[in-house]
Amino acid sequence: MNSEEIRKEFLAFFEKRGHKVIASSSLIPGDDPSVLITTAGMQQFKKYFTREKDPIKDFGTQRTTSIQKCFRTTDIEEVGDERHLTFFEMLGNFSFGPVGSDDPKDFGVSGYFKRSAICWAYEFLNNLGLKIDFVSVFKGEKNIPYDSESFNIWKELGIDEKKIMKFGREDNFWGPTGEEGPCGPTTEIYIDNIEVWNIVFNEYYQEKSGNLKKLEFPGVDTGMGFERLMKVIQKTATVFETDLFEPLRTRILEINPNIQVRDLRIILDHTRASVFLISDGIYPSNLERGYVLRRILRRLMLKLNKYNLTDKIDIMIKAVIEKFGNIYNNLKNYDKIYEVINKEFKSFERTLKRGLKMFEKYIKGNETEEELGEKLFLLFTSFGLPLDISKELLKEKEMKFTEISNHVFSKLFEEHRKISKSS
Ligand code: GLY
Repeated sequence: MNSEEIRKEFLAFFEKRGHKVIASSSLIPGDDPSVLITTAGMQQFKKYFTREKDPIKDFGTQRTTSIQKCFRTTDIEEVGDERHLTFFEMLGNFSFGPVGSDDPKDFGVSGYFKRSAICWAYEFLNNLGLKIDFVSVFKGEKNIPYDSESFNIWKELGIDEKKIMKFGREDNFWGPTGEEGPCGPTTEIYIDNIEVWNIVFNEYYQEKSGNLKKLEFPGVDTGMGFERLMKVIQKTATVFETDLFEPLRTRILEINPNIQVRDLRIILDHTRASVFLISDGIYPSNLERGYVLRRILRRLMLKLNKYNLTDKIDIMIKAVIEKFGNIYNNLKNYDKIYEVINKEFKSFERTLKRGLKMFEKYIKGNETEEELGEKLFLLFTSFGLPLDISKELLKEKEMKFTEISNHVFSKLFEEHRKISKSS
């Protein structure tokens, strides 16, 4: 099955079970100002979990489902390995209390909880012919009790006890997004050793102080990474071979079949992510969201430049629009997206070319961790070569920028900042 079919199947499955299908919100979070960029499907629903908004009034049901555009900044430097992405889509179903029924056969509109959430996830995956390897439940920690209910539901569904792992707050507790918000223990589903579906039982509200308050009504917030799901359905080697990266991947490989795999993954992820960020109205700058976009555009340019592909960005943007334009209408603004990327590439071109030359000249390969911190600082202050780019170049040479290197860089940077400010 392809991703278009799965999109439809997923939304239809939950629509049939009383959920209202809600379009993805923007990557600029409207209802969650405590974070820069939308990172999860539940963000547009935060106020329904807290009862500041009434789901019945707005949706006619206490159940919603969506496929949400997400972007996680924490993963930027990790992109290039087999599984990390910055931009991804997340399939989710949500229940906003009070819980009227927790019977999976009830296709009504009331709130539901653990039994329905788990049974439906199981049924959906089962319908796709996927075999669950193992699941995990919250083991109980720091005044939050062990989730025996989820354990028993999984057992009833036929999952071997030995395959129901019990983990603590580190692994099986999700949220909040930003400084405060709904959060709670989770039960997670693994297929082919990949965590595919995270089912969160939003029973708490974490305050800014870190204090957990019980929510008036418990809610359900599930998140299933679309790329990971497609990987297990299409049985590809990594997420990058799923059809969610087509036709972009094929177009790039047609131009140059010899791109190294790590570089190809960075190009795939960053091209797609940039197109989505710009289409939601984010522009490159040195501040907040704009800076996130600038970082990925520069990293993208570094990789394209390595293969003389920078002037093929038009073909790449068009490939992303071809795949997603009918799903996300604002992606159709090709001219604007091209203009923003091209302008950023042009303004970075000289700095990148000069920086690359200087990097080759200064970095010998035998530096100590401290020396690397000093040298990257010099490349940054004297030639404007961003640390991100230098770090990526080190990776290409299989050299490590360690905690110690980073400490030296940051110390010099701080001193430099103070001097610049006072002069
Ligand atoms: N809100 C659930 C998740 O992001 O995994």
